[in-house]
Order: sequence, then structure tokens, then C-alpha cells
Amino acid sequence: MAREQARRIAAAFMPAQRFGNRRDYYYSRGKLGSDPLYPGVLAALAPARGPLLDIGCGLGLLAHVLRQHGWLQPYRGVDIDADKIVRAQRAGTRAALADATFTCLDASADLPDHHGSVALLDVLQYLPPEAQTALLRGAAARVAPGGRLVIRTTLADRSGRDRATRITDMLAHLVGWMGTRPRHYPDAATVRAPLDAAGLQLTMAPLYGNTPFNNWLIVAAPDPAAPAR
Ligand SMILES: C[S@@+](CC[C@H](N)C(=O)[O-])C[C@H]1O[C@@H](n2cnc3c(N)ncnc32)[C@H](O)[C@@H]1O
Repeated sequence: MAREQARRIAAAFMPAQRFGNRRDYYYSRGKLGSDPLYPGVLAALAPARGPLLDIGCGLGLLAHVLRQHGWLQPYRGVDIDADKIVRAQRAGTRAALADATFTCLDASADLPDHHGSVALLDVLQYLPPEAQTALLRGAAARVAPGGRLVIRTTLADRSGRDRATRITDMLAHLVGWMGTRPRHYPDAATVRAPLDAAGLQLTMAPLYGNTPFNNWLIVAAPDPAAPAR
């Protein structure tokens, strides 16, 4: 994203007090300015209709990006980290995000009722293998005709990028940014299987940008020719 767009979103994460902690401000500014995730997800969601469920929403940066780009459909962010949800709510209120909510929820135990599009960005590796498959099934079941399931994940393929991703995830956990540690890195076939079984058509493309990570963008949609579910 352009530097000014990133700065405007990050401003919602500035501390209320002059000498307060600016960690979220610098993190969001840096991430929005450097991560190819957001342009990729914006493009994938551009044709999607209906509300969006953002599973593992973190600070809710995607909601800010969507609203900044005029994507006005309802946004529901859920994350297991209660503290991040409080910070996401605070920044969402500050930015006056319309029709955006943030709720604390363990997506491996429960998913809210939803019928629309679903985002699952950099979350899968924090769940054990069986929970990943269950989450992918649950996410796929919530995609409506005209909706999209947009996943960003690293894929296990023993490449140098795969190793760089694992080391960085572990460091993010050790320095306390990620409360949960990575559990399992899925490979392409295990991500694809539950989505194929749900009848979704998918594309998988690398989303490396200028990063050293093995990130892939997976976009799945119901077959427009299939009878409505
Ligand atoms: C690397 S962050 C990605 C945040 C956000 N999706 C983004 O792209 O900026 C992974 C997020 O997944 C969340 N997460 C991990 N396990 C989860 C679970 N079982 N249920 C809900 N959220 C979870 C973490 O708390 C964290 O905020």
C-alpha cells in the first residue's frame, strides 16, 4: 500500500496518551506499507458480495483497508486473543469504521453463523492439523454464492522460504507478539482437499512480494453453475 494510505490507517492505533505505547502504530504502519497481503485480498474480494467473516483478524487491519478502499459490506472480525480484540475495537471506533465488529472467539472450537465471504489470513499454522481441516471445512461452508474464501498461508514445501517463515513465526512468538506458537504448516494438498470436497473452485498463487516468506494466496469460490446450497 502507498505510504500515506498506511500512515492514515496506522493513526487509529496511536496511543491515547502522548507517551503511550506506539507498538501497534509502528507495526500496522510497517505491515500495511510492506506486505503484499492487502492488495492481494482487496483484488480477491473485489467481486465478492455479502458480509465478510475475518477469522483470526488480529488488530483488524483488513477492516481498515477495506473501508479505505470503499468496500462497504459488513465486516465481522474474530480472534482468540482477547487483548488484540480490545485494541482492534479501540482502533475501529477511533477510525469510525462503519458496520465492523471485533469479537473474541476460538475459531478451532466454534465459528459464528455466517453466509457471505470468509478471510483466513496467516492463521492456519497456529492450529494442529485436524483443527486446520475442520476450520477449512467450516469456513468453506460459510461461503455464499457470489462470496469468496480468501486464505493466505505459508505452505510446507521444504524450500528456503518455508524455513524463513518458520523461523520468523517462532521469533514472533518468543518476543511476545504472537500469543500462540505455530503448530503445523500445511502443504498444498491438505489445504486443497476440504475446499474441493465443499465444491469450491480455487486458485493458488504465490504472494511473495519483496518478502523472504513462503506465502500463498488461495481464493476459493462456489461454482457459479452449481445449484445454490
Ligand atoms: C499472524 S496473525 C494474523 C492476523 C491477521 N489475520 C492479519 O493478517 O493481520 C494470526 C492471528 O490468528 C489468531 N489465532 C490463532 N489461533 C486462533 C484461533 N484458534 N481462533 C481465532 N484466532 C486465532 C492469533 O491470535 C493472531 O491474531
